[in-house]
Amino acid sequence: MKSIKLPNVFQASATELPFSDNYFDAVFTDPPYYDNVPYSYLSDFFYVWLKRCIGDLYPELFATPLTPKSREIVAYSHENGYEAGKNRFESMLKQSFKEISRVLKPNGIAVIVYTHKSTEGWETLINSLLESDLVPTASWPIDTEMKSRLRAKESAALASSIYFVCRKMKRDEVGWINEIRDELNKHLPKKLEELWKEGVSGSDYFVSAIGSAIEVFGKYRKIMDYEGNEISAKRLIEIVREIVTDYVVRQILHNGIAGELSPLTRFYLLYRWSFGEAKIHFDDARKLAQSVGVSLEDEWNRGFIKKEKEFIRVLGPQERKLNEIRGNELIEVLHKVLLLWKDGRKEEIKEVLSESGYGLKEAFYRVAQAISETLPKESAEKKLLDGFLSGKDRLVGEIRDKLEKFKQKKLFE
Ligand SMILES: C[S@@+](CC[C@H](N)C(=O)[O-])C[C@H]1O[C@@H](n2cnc3c(N)ncnc32)[C@H](O)[C@@H]1O
Repeated sequence: MKSIKLPNVFQASATELPFSDNYFDAVFTDPPYYDNVPYSYLSDFFYVWLKRCIGDLYPELFATPLTPKSREIVAYSHENGYEAGKNRFESMLKQSFKEISRVLKPNGIAVIVYTHKSTEGWETLINSLLESDLVPTASWPIDTEMKSRLRAKESAALASSIYFVCRKMKRDEVGWINEIRDELNKHLPKKLEELWKEGVSGSDYFVSAIGSAIEVFGKYRKIMDYEGNEISAKRLIEIVREIVTDYVVRQILHNGIAGELSPLTRFYLLYRWSFGEAKIHFDDARKLAQSVGVSLEDEWNRGFIKKEKEFIRVLGPQERKLNEIRGNELIEVLHKVLLLWKDGRKEEIKEVLSESGYGLKEAFYRVAQAISETLPKESAEKKLLDGFLSGKDRLVGEIRDKLEKFKQKKLFE
């Protein structure tokens, strides 16, 4: 009988691997995702029972009363504050990537799995990666999370993780931002199109795009502008976000009219597409707003943007009062019209649409359609939109007649 070679299992910190240089053909790692899960604290629940049951069989694994916390790679803000948590995560992740490249054979492959919703989560990954000798040559999003899990229902949780395939090589010392921007503008749309066709959406779409962008700027240790300033990972992520939001608005509106939309209407559309009706952290909303040229601080609690402690929510028409909706923004007029539609006030709908000028504008109905497509079947906002849109052709005809009659009347006056 052929003997089966059993694998060896070792326990050690990823920051200090007990192996010699150039040892492995491949390393596969799924490091913690910034501050997503407090693994060591969660493990304590099981650890205390396991220690009682099998602690004497593995004394070296159960030496401490609770799980050891000091070498955990994680961004806890409760311990020494937000900045300290971020620095701890970044320096330990950096060290573990250096260790991976050290133990990897020169032609070996490292696969790193990662995802995070926040810019900070990605900044730390990028900074850690650029300081190692691991250069990402490909990236894919893979659905790893269950959509039905509790967190996914309440929040705009991510469904996929990004798998980076990295090679061990020396990176170029400096990349110039103008050239990288050109490269991103060439490389990203192709990737964005593929992801769109594969049905990746919302926040997952954005993190997948960051993955592809890292393939471009991850070739350089430092990115600089021609004046000699270093470009931060945060700025690189902003650039990616601008390219992505522009592409997405065009796609959800099926091209053509994207340029006609005001920043606030773009923001609304993108928010619904990215996060649905979930509330999100203020900082995530601010970044989205920034990418379309909206200043969130100037807008919240005035119209549809609502601040609730450190969170932002985008109100649907059913959560607003008719007499509080003002202005001639497309999205505001749409909300007004939907509330009138809910109350069956047809004549007023025609009036609002004729006076605002949106009644005969294709963009108005396309935006309504696009918002509806981003929402789940059971959403109250979607039901309003679909109801309103079902009578669109008749409504447009009536508005046209009304405007025609008005013109005739003016002619004879
Ligand atoms: C994203 S999880 C990996 C989950 C794993 N793929 C699975 O399916 O169970 C990250 C893991 O890294 C572990 N970790 C944290 N700091 C570490 C360190 N210094 N060395 C090794 N592992 C560490 C965490 O305890 C956690 O189990």
